[in-house]
Amino acid sequence: MKAVVFTKYGSPDVLEVRDVEKPTPQDGEVLVRIHATSLNEWDDGALRGEDVVNRLIFGVQAPKRGRQILGSDIAGVVESVGKGVTRFQSGDAVYGDLSGRWGGFAEFVCAPEKALAPKPRSMTFEQAAAIPQAGLLAFQALRMMGPMRPGQTLLINGAGGGVGTFALQLLKPHGLVVSAVDSAGKLELLRELGAAQVHDYAREDFTRTGQRYDFILDVKTLRSVLACTRALKPAGSYVTVGGSMPRLIQALLLWPWVALVQRKKIRLLALKANQGLDVLNELFEAGKLVPVIDRCFGLEETAAAFRFYEAGEPPGKGGDQGGAEG
Ligand SMILES: NC(=O)c1ccc[n+]([C@@H]2O[C@H](COP(=O)([O-])OP(=O)(O)OC[C@H]3O[C@@H](n4cnc5c(N)ncnc54)[C@H](OP(=O)(O)O)[C@@H]3O)[C@@H](O)[C@H]2O)c1
Repeated sequence: MKAVVFTKYGSPDVLEVRDVEKPTPQDGEVLVRIHATSLNEWDDGALRGEDVVNRLIFGVQAPKRGRQILGSDIAGVVESVGKGVTRFQSGDAVYGDLSGRWGGFAEFVCAPEKALAPKPRSMTFEQAAAIPQAGLLAFQALRMMGPMRPGQTLLINGAGGGVGTFALQLLKPHGLVVSAVDSAGKLELLRELGAAQVHDYAREDFTRTGQRYDFILDVKTLRSVLACTRALKPAGSYVTVGGSMPRLIQALLLWPWVALVQRKKIRLLALKANQGLDVLNELFEAGKLVPVIDRCFGLEETAAAFRFYEAGEPPGKGGDQGGAEG
C-alpha cells in the first residue's frame, strides 16, 4: 500500500510517499481502507520533532519503526476484522482518532475496534475525519469549565483553527457572549460562527485590553498564564488544551497558587480520545455542528497539506481525500 513516511524530523520536505507492507489486523483490531484523514497540530509537532514530549513518543534521535506514519483522525471503510471484533464487519463506514498509534496518512490502517465509531450516513468521509480530535478537545475543554449561564463571557484564544471553530458551535446553545482571538483573515468566519467580538492577535493582546471574562479557552497558550488569569473575572476559569511547553509547565506549577490566592481556576486538558464522539455525532445529525474544512489534498500531496497548515492559512481544518488531509 502507499503511505506517507517520515524517517527523520524536519520540515514537510522530509515526508516521502512510499510503498509499505499493508497491515494485518490483530485480535480486537479492524483493518480500515482510509477515505480521508485530517491533519492536526500534533502531526505537525511530531514531524518537526522540536519538543521533548514528541521526541519521547516518536523517538529521540529519529522517528522509530511503527511511528513513521503520522495521521490520527481517520475515516474509511472496514476491509476486514481480526479475531474477537464484535462491533464492526467488512463494509462498515467508520471514523475515529487514532492518536497514540497514528498511521492515518496511508491507504490502510489497523485500529482497535474501540477507537472507532460508526460514521453517520449524512456525514462525508472528509467531515468525519475532521471531527474527532479537534471536536473532542473543544467538547472536553468546555465541559471542564463547569456550569455556564447565559450572559456570561468567554474568550477563545486561537479560535480560528480546528478546536476553536468547534467550540464556537458547541457554545451557541449556552447564550454566552463569546470573544474570539485569531489572525485577521479568520475574523469574519469567527463572527459567522457566533463570536460577538473578534480580536486580531497581531494587533491586540487580549490580556491587556482591560476586559475580563468568566471563562478563557486557550488553544495556543503563548502568553503568561498569570496574565491570562488577570483577564478572568473573580472565580473565573482558564482551560488550556495545548501550546508552548514552558507556558504549560507554568500553568501546572501555578494552578494551586492561583486557586488559593486569586480564587480562579486553571485547568490543563488531557484529551480522552473518542470520548464524547457519540454526542458530537448527534449534534452533527441535528445540523448543529458542521466541521469547517478549508481545503482537501490527495495522499500524494500530504507534504503540501503540511506546508499549507504551517503557513497559517486554513480556517478550521484541512484534510486529505483518498488518504490524507491538510
Ligand atoms: N490536551 C491534549 O491532550 C491535546 C491533544 C492533541 C492536541 N492538543 C493541542 O490542541 C491544540 C490544537 O488546536 P487546533 O486544532 O485548533 O489548532 P490549529 O487548527 O492549528 O488552530 C490554532 C489557531 O491559532 C491561531 N494562532 C496562531 N498564533 C496565535 C496567537 N499568537 N494567538 C492567537 N491565535 C493564534 C492560528 O492562526 P494562524 O495560523 O492564522 O496564525 C490558528 O487559527 C494544540 O495546541 C495541540 O497541541 C492537545
